Amino acid sequence: MVDKNRKATLTIDGRSWDLPMRSPTVGPDVIDIRKLYGEADVFTYDPGFTSTASCASTITYIDGDAGELLYRGYPIEQLAERSHFLEVCFLLLYGDLPNAAQLEDFENRVTRHTMLHEQIQYFFRGFRRDAHPMATMVGVVGAMSAFYHDSTDINDPWQREVAAIRMIAKLPTIAAWAYKYSIGQPFVYPRNDLDYASNFLRMCFAVPTEEYEVNPVLSRAMDRIMTLHADHEQNASTSTVRLAGSSGANPFACVAAGIACLWGPAHGGANQACLEMLREIGSVGRIPEFIRRAKDKDDPFRLMGFGHRVYKNFDPRAKVMKQSADEVLGLLGVENNPLLQVAKELERIALEDAYFIDKKLYPNVDFYSGIILEAMGFPTAMFTPIFAVSRTVGWISQWKEMIADKDQKIGRPRQLYVGAPRRDYREVEDRS
Ligand code: SDX
Repeated sequence: MVDKNRKATLTIDGRSWDLPMRSPTVGPDVIDIRKLYGEADVFTYDPGFTSTASCASTITYIDGDAGELLYRGYPIEQLAERSHFLEVCFLLLYGDLPNAAQLEDFENRVTRHTMLHEQIQYFFRGFRRDAHPMATMVGVVGAMSAFYHDSTDINDPWQREVAAIRMIAKLPTIAAWAYKYSIGQPFVYPRNDLDYASNFLRMCFAVPTEEYEVNPVLSRAMDRIMTLHADHEQNASTSTVRLAGSSGANPFACVAAGIACLWGPAHGGANQACLEMLREIGSVGRIPEFIRRAKDKDDPFRLMGFGHRVYKNFDPRAKVMKQSADEVLGLLGVENNPLLQVAKELERIALEDAYFIDKKLYPNVDFYSGIILEAMGFPTAMFTPIFAVSRTVGWISQWKEMIADKDQKIGRPRQLYVGAPRRDYREVEDRS
């Protein structure tokens, strides 16, 4: 809310401007600079948006110093322990936990939209078998706007709702089919008698030649991984979805843009990069070599799964993920998994090292997730697609909030121009 009595005063070359302040429910106050350029003819400069609030949101709150993450006010630890993914989807989409009737209705609506238009299968077949599943997901999700015309009008609240349910329901099928296509196995259709996470596991690992029983431990772990990844304030991929949506693009195109951004190793691709790093380290004895490299300014190597723009304390998701890794690998009888041992020793050493302590670098959500996913039988190339499946509800919730925001306009940042001043064209014979 705008705090009428509070203002920030900016003084430049003896001239001053008063800028209104806005106070949050919790977290830092903001300085409203929307009129700054018009009044003072200056831009603010913030590449990476480290000090910039792009919007007002009611969905997710992060306290990086305290290591706190709230979905609509509920702590992630409590939701991971006591809720389940589709209930968290309802919470993120509609603002509070559902009653029993609302939950049943929502779960039925999602369950009954998990099938894909039968023709979409041919879209998959245009990809090379060795295409990264994220490439397939960017393509197929973007193509959904060519199959679901009746839910692309962003000005129709009902079409927005239908698009939201369709994407939450169909992303697991798309991700599972991207995996099946990459290994040359037939697509497995979703089943309406399975919960969301169990359905996804079965679509990934079942084969037509035999019955597939979902392991309830793995299904619970998968559901918890999805909850932990569901939303995370204005991260890079969510900001991408918001920016794409601000131009009026249809929701499928916006989510496809978010998937493309998530793919980067500095963002959602870090879970794959982290496991590949742990595999490269290979043994506890080689950890010091990699710690040294991570601290070497001249070495581009970074500890993947470590560090975060916002968390300057433990990522609360990493704590839950670490517990889940111990539980899942213990129940699978692979608690002595060498990668888990390397990860735990790497975390211990790094957290005692002055470089990481001074820079407040802690394990993030991607540090342990890959170890669990690999133990479940997923190849590393499927780690980020699973992140994308989980984050779809966050992207859609943030997209819906943006569309409904009366302050919203097309996102169009300015720049600090440091290029050539105006100069006249020279014919080629006049050039040196
Ligand atoms: C996700 O934003 C979100 O919310 C994202 C996410 C979500 O749920 O949406 O949480 C998901 O993307 C988690 C982050 C996954 N990425 C990785 O694990 C990749 C490794 N981490 C880094 O690349 C880095 O920490 C970032 C990208 C996550 C954050 O980078 P910042 O905020 O731009 O910070 P920075 O790169 O400026 O680092 C600050 C300092 C630098 O040293 P100095 O220049 O100050 O000397 O810390 C160093 C960095 O060199 N540093 C690291 C490091 N991360 C930062 N050094 C070694 N290893 C690392 N991992």
